[in-house]
Amino acid sequence: MNKQPIGLFDSGIGGTSIWKEVIALLPYENTIYLADSKNAPYGEKTSEEILSLAIKNTEFLISKGCKLIIIACNTATTNAIDYLRKHYKIPFIGIEPAIKPAALYSKTGAIGILATKGTLSSKLFEKKAKEYTKKLTIIEQEGAGLVSLIESGKIDTPEINQLLETYLKPMLKFNIDHLVLGCTHYPYLIPKIKKIIGSNVNIIDSGKAVAKQTKNILEKNNILNIKNSNTVTHLFFTNGNKEILAQFTPIKSIYTF
Ligand code: DGL
Repeated sequence: MNKQPIGLFDSGIGGTSIWKEVIALLPYENTIYLADSKNAPYGEKTSEEILSLAIKNTEFLISKGCKLIIIACNTATTNAIDYLRKHYKIPFIGIEPAIKPAALYSKTGAIGILATKGTLSSKLFEKKAKEYTKKLTIIEQEGAGLVSLIESGKIDTPEINQLLETYLKPMLKFNIDHLVLGCTHYPYLIPKIKKIIGSNVNIIDSGKAVAKQTKNILEKNNILNIKNSNTVTHLFFTNGNKEILAQFTPIKSIYTF
């Protein structure tokens, strides 16, 4: 069991930002990454559609023998993790906007959250946000259009800069001191985001926390791969553009599914 891979899935390349943190902390683990790029962006779909895609991805990874699945997508986590945990035996690790640390460290009492429509409108997100709204002003902003541009390899374009300015500048008027990135695609935009929000606003993403949580759960279930005498294997699958995915991972064994 310990040598079986960890599975990760996302609507596309975004979850590679999580995959990088996971393999940095857990270098002996084999992994399988699934990029469902054909169906991106998840954030614009209904909760039912997102759940059905999450089930498909889960079944694929389980068929490949995964011992644990990281839902490397906020939108899929917030809409599907409860169902997946109920219906499959293996452990699931999810990722959701890190409101808690932002709330804990905020001095101005105002934080910004940039996430997809699917995440911001989910019941799970609403529940989490409610825990903090008494003490905090939370400025929620949908990142409409960002995932599609990233998925088509258009990170360094005026279009993306323009969207980011439109979404982030109004947040500054509320004196936010933390910006939570609630989508795993967005860490790839951090240099651009910093240029707009400056150095007084801390950017929080959940990659490291997810890797730590994965380690804890592997240990707790006794399925951590302590040392792998064979070479570690990382497999990437996509139903989208292989060349674009290859720009976000050092792994060259990319397959279509
Ligand atoms: N990476 C996904 C997330 O974290 C992207 C969602 C999308 O495809 O819209 O939410």
